[in-house]
Amino acid sequence: MKIIIINGPNLNLLGKREPDVYGHHSFDDYFEILQARFQDVDLEYFQSNLEGEIINKIQETGFSYDGIVLNAAAYTHTSIGIGDAVKAVPVPVIEVHISNTFAREEFRHHSFIAPNARGIILGFGLKSYDLAIQSFIAE
Ligand code: DQA
Repeated sequence: MKIIIINGPNLNLLGKREPDVYGHHSFDDYFEILQARFQDVDLEYFQSNLEGEIINKIQETGFSYDGIVLNAAAYTHTSIGIGDAVKAVPVPVIEVHISNTFAREEFRHHSFIAPNARGIILGFGLKSYDLAIQSFIAE
């Protein structure tokens, strides 16, 4: 099983960025924990601060992988292009957020990805990624 985690803008700063909201771990450290936990899964990780690069990666993997775990970060709330890319590919996409976006500012309540995601997992901290991967395995 081949799954890619795609992280959007500012998630390269995890551990340093607003730790009260996003925690104290870098994603690189957490990715090692995920790899150790899901040894039977071929896990890949991609992060970009650029909208077009995220779209390219969804197109590149969205016809051949088994799953995409997507935290588009702020682009979740703004990007019709990323939403369209998710709609365009047959590979199931799980939308993930570290924080509970519904408990935050109103502009975070809308997602351009949600209508075409297989499911959404949010508010469990970095564990949200773990739960998203589990959802593919349980199939
Ligand atoms: C986030 C929530 C977004 O609203 C925010 O812009 C982020 C991170 C999360 O994982 O909680 O950058 O996607």
